[in-house]
Amino acid sequence: MPKELPLTIENRWDILYRDFPEVYDAFAAVPKNPNTFEVLQQHFDLAGRRILDVGSGSGSSTLAAAQWAEQVIGLEIEDAMRAVALRQTAATGILNASFVPGTALDIPFKDNYFDLVLAITLPLFQPEDIRQFASESLRVTRKGGIVITVGIAPFWYGGELAPIILGEKRVTEVDTEGVSHRVLADELHFDFFDYEADQEYGSLDKILRTYGFIFGRKAMDYLAAHGKTAIRWKFRIHHRRKDSSW
Ligand SMILES: C[S@@+](CC[C@H](N)C(=O)[O-])C[C@H]1O[C@@H](n2cnc3c(N)ncnc32)[C@H](O)[C@@H]1O
Repeated sequence: MPKELPLTIENRWDILYRDFPEVYDAFAAVPKNPNTFEVLQQHFDLAGRRILDVGSGSGSSTLAAAQWAEQVIGLEIEDAMRAVALRQTAATGILNASFVPGTALDIPFKDNYFDLVLAITLPLFQPEDIRQFASESLRVTRKGGIVITVGIAPFWYGGELAPIILGEKRVTEVDTEGVSHRVLADELHFDFFDYEADQEYGSLDKILRTYGFIFGRKAMDYLAAHGKTAIRWKFRIHHRRKDSSW
């Protein structure tokens, strides 16, 4: 029997990754302007690199990196997400991308193996997990290589609809993204910059079935009431080069 689609998972990302990896993939595949990898390529040279993509999900970030990289390996904890990534990779015929199971907290590669470690919206929000990921990602990066994270900027959960999703008052209190910023930037001396990007879904039906499905009833009602088909996001990129002080 086909799986019955609930109207929304109300921000339960664990359920999304485990039971609805195709919905995550459809959400991730909606074009962003500017595109995340264009921004990354402008600031960091990805060309010809050996890259690890931590929290590679359904593979969209890994396959995008593969357009520049010599080799890219996606590391992903959730089997259902990795299965989608493998299918996509086979379908595209891309040969320089592969995927391994495992966790960002114990990266299954030897020291100094990668030129670049990327983590695009890797959901770690406990300070000790963020420290452990930073230590592991710097360990597997070669001297002179770089660790880069792309995350949602503080108070931008769900993009411009954060006040709708979290409530006007709570939006300044719910600061999960701020936790990773304080650990990476203040404690671990990562540099950072922000940029904004627009995601256009093309139709109300599509935005409700992807973004709305994930971010919940309040977001869906707002989108439907305003006939809104695009979302503006603010992202924060943290980066740190591995030098002799590591
Ligand atoms: C928001 S998705 C991002 C996927 C992909 N990077 C992209 O840009 O579309 C986050 C992914 O990180 C994975 N993840 C969560 N915790 C992880 C961990 N500790 N180690 C590795 N992957 C993890 C999730 O299963 C999910 O697939």
